[in-house]
Amino acid sequence: MKLCVLSATLCFNLAAALPSLPSWLTSEFSAEIPEEIHYFTWHSPGPNDARAPCPMLNTLANHGFLPHSGKSITERDTVNALYTALNINQTLGQFLFQKAMTTNPTPNATTFDLDDLDRHDILEHDASLSRGDFYFGDDHTFNQTIFDETRSYWTEPIIDVQMAANARLARVHTSNATNPTFMLTDLGRKFSFGETAAYILVLGDRVAGTVKRSWVEYLFEKERLPLELGWRKRKVEISNGHVGNLLQRIVNATGASAQDKEIMIKRGGMHVGL
Ligand code: HEM
Ligand SMILES: *[C@@H]1O[C@H](CO)[C@@H](O)[C@H](O)[C@H]1NC(C)=O
Ligand SMILES: *[C@@H]1O[C@H](CO)[C@@H](O)[C@H](O)[C@H]1NC(C)=O
Ligand SMILES: *[C@@H]1O[C@H](CO)[C@@H](O)[C@H](O)[C@H]1NC(C)=O
Ligand SMILES: *[C@@H]1O[C@H](CO)[C@@H](O)[C@H](O)[C@H]1NC(C)=O
Ligand SMILES: *[C@@H]1O[C@H](CO)[C@@H](O)[C@H](O)[C@H]1NC(C)=O
Repeated sequence: MKLCVLSATLCFNLAAALPSLPSWLTSEFSAEIPEEIHYFTWHSPGPNDARAPCPMLNTLANHGFLPHSGKSITERDTVNALYTALNINQTLGQFLFQKAMTTNPTPNATTFDLDDLDRHDILEHDASLSRGDFYFGDDHTFNQTIFDETRSYWTEPIIDVQMAANARLARVHTSNATNPTFMLTDLGRKFSFGETAAYILVLGDRVAGTVKRSWVEYLFEKERLPLELGWRKRKVEISNGHVGNLLQRIVNATGASAQDKEIMIKRGGMHVGL
C-alpha cells in the first residue's frame, strides 16, 4: 500500500513536472533525455578552451556535446556528439573524425584538439564563408565582415541551393581577387562544397535543399544551436549519401565550374561525402 502511494506520488510528481519542460523535449526526445540534456546547456569558451574554424564543432563544444575544453577529442566523443546532437550517421561521424585526425601533428595520436583544425591547407582552406584567409593572418576566428558578404547572397528568408551556391562562389571570387596566395586544393574545394551542403543538411530540408536563413545566421554568429528559433534535430539520419547528393546539386548550381565538376567526380566526392 505504502509502495503504491509512493509510486503514485512519484508518478504524480513526474506528471506535474513534465509540463514545465519544453514541449519538444517531452514529445520528441523523451527516451533520450540524459544525453539530449546538453541542448539546455551552453557556455561560451573560456580563455584556455580550444576552438576551431568550424562553426558546428565550436557549437557542439559550447553545448558540451563535445568536451567544452575543445581538447583531446576522441573518436567516441566525435561520433556520439554528431549522432546525439545532430543525427549524423555514425559511419559518417567516424569518417569525419579520421579527417580531423589528419590535422593533429603528434605522431600516432588518438585524439585531436579543435585548434588543430586551423592548420592551413590540410582541411582548412581559403574562401571560407565566415573566416579570413590564412594569408591575412587569422583563418579561424569568426569574422563578421566576411560573413556579411556571404549573407548578402542569401536574399530571401529561406536559403535555397542556388543562393547557397552563389554565396560560396562569391567568397571564392573575393578571395581570388584579394589574396595573392589564393588557392583551393582538391580536398579544400571538396570541403568547401561539403560545408555548404552541411548547413543545409543539418539545419534544413535535405530534400528541398532549403534552410531558414535566420537559423544559419544564428549558428554562425552565436555558435549555438538555434533551438530557441525552432530548430530541432533532423528526424531522418544524415548519411554519406545525403551529403553526396546535396553536394552535387550545389556543384551544379555553381554553374561555370566544369573544373569543379570534374574534380568532384574524379575524387569520388559525389559518393564519398565531404
Ligand atoms: C568531425 C566533424 C567535422 C570536422 C572535422 C569539421 C571540420 C571543419 C573545418 C576544418 C572547417 C574549416 C574550413 C574552412 O577553412 O573554412 C569547417 C568549416 C565548416 N564546417 Fe565543419 N567540421 C565537422 C563537422 C561539421 C558539421 C556536422 C557541420 C554541420 C553544419 C559543419 C559545418 C561547417 C561549416 C558550415 C563550415 C564553414 C565555415 C566557413 O566557411 O566559415 N561542420 N569544418
Ligand atoms: C550509415 O549510413 C550508411 C548508408 O549511407 C549505412 O550503410 C551504414 O550502415 C550507416 N551506419 C550506421 C552506423 O548506421
Ligand atoms: C607510431 O607507430 C608506429 C607504428 O606502430 C611506431 O613504429 C612508431 O614508433 C610510433 N611513433 C611514436 C612516436 O610513438
Ligand atoms: C575581417 O575581415 C576583413 C575583410 O577581409 C578584414 O579587413 C578585417 O581585418 C577582419 N577582421 C578581423 C578582426 O580580423
Ligand atoms: C582566379 O582568378 C584567376 C585569374 O583571374 C583565374 O584564372 C582563376 O580561374 C580563378 N580561380 C578560381 C578558382 O576562380
Ligand atoms: C548535376 O548535373 C549533372 C550533369 O552535369 C547531372 O547528371 C546530375 O544529375 C546533376 N545532379 C543533381 C543532383 O542534380
